[in-house]
Amino acid sequence: MTLRVGGLCAGYHGGRVLHGVELTVESGTVQAIVGRNGAGKTTLVHAIAGLLKPYSGMVVVDGVELAGAPAHVIARAGVGLVPQGRRVFASLTVSEHLRLAVGGRRSPQWTVARVLELLPRLAERLGNRGDQLSGGEQQMLAIARALLTQPRVLLLDEPSEGLAAGVAARVRELISGLAGAGMSVLLVEQRLDHAIEVADRIAVLDYGHVVFDESTTQVRAEPVSVQSMLSIDQPLNPQPQGS
Ligand SMILES: Nc1ncnc2c1ncn2[C@@H]1O[C@H](COP(=O)(O)OP(=O)(O)O)[C@@H](O)[C@H]1O
Ligand SMILES: [Mg+2]
Repeated sequence: MTLRVGGLCAGYHGGRVLHGVELTVESGTVQAIVGRNGAGKTTLVHAIAGLLKPYSGMVVVDGVELAGAPAHVIARAGVGLVPQGRRVFASLTVSEHLRLAVGGRRSPQWTVARVLELLPRLAERLGNRGDQLSGGEQQMLAIARALLTQPRVLLLDEPSEGLAAGVAARVRELISGLAGAGMSVLLVEQRLDHAIEVADRIAVLDYGHVVFDESTTQVRAEPVSVQSMLSIDQPLNPQPQGS
């Protein structure tokens, strides 16, 4: 399923954070979004998922226009979200989280059994509460919960934030596997090197504008110029010396 975002404007209390964002995520590919803190990455993901009502613009999934629809309608249309910070409940067990996430679909593609097969670590932790899980286990649970909503477009907002390198690598492997099986993946990623590893395309969001959107092959050839768009230490247009 293709996700197409066009001219998307969104923000808070009438103020604009996103200024006409354009993006396309093709089936079976990973589109990474990188950008500085506060660039609007989470706002974008929320506006797509219907957690934030956009001011204007299009969110088209499989040819169906969804911008402004309620979150549950967008979820039912096949858009799943793994939110930033994972949002795991401290007092619920893994098993309870999974039971809550299961929808009423007939012949679902993702069952609890299949999700646990993909994420065997969770199978060993079914009776553990959220606050008894490691960061990596919480992230796996957040992914499991999203998969149980039967997404064909998956939005992941900084899934490797705060994870040890090995666990973050495992998360990237998972994401690659899902895309390999046909999922359209929009991945917000803090680190360009990690985005390069997993993504087919990389876009840079800056002050709510997509200022760059190229194939990963292209980015590999010129990582420094993309990195400079992300750095807060190096201004994009440094003043010439002595001026
Ligand atoms: N709930 C909110 N209410 C008001 N402003 C917000 C809210 N959430 C985010 N913002 C503002 O929107 C801008 C973009 O934030 P965000 O989308 O979270 O950026 P990112 O995910 O790229 O770090 C920031 O200036 C932030 O302060
Ligand atoms: Mg964010």
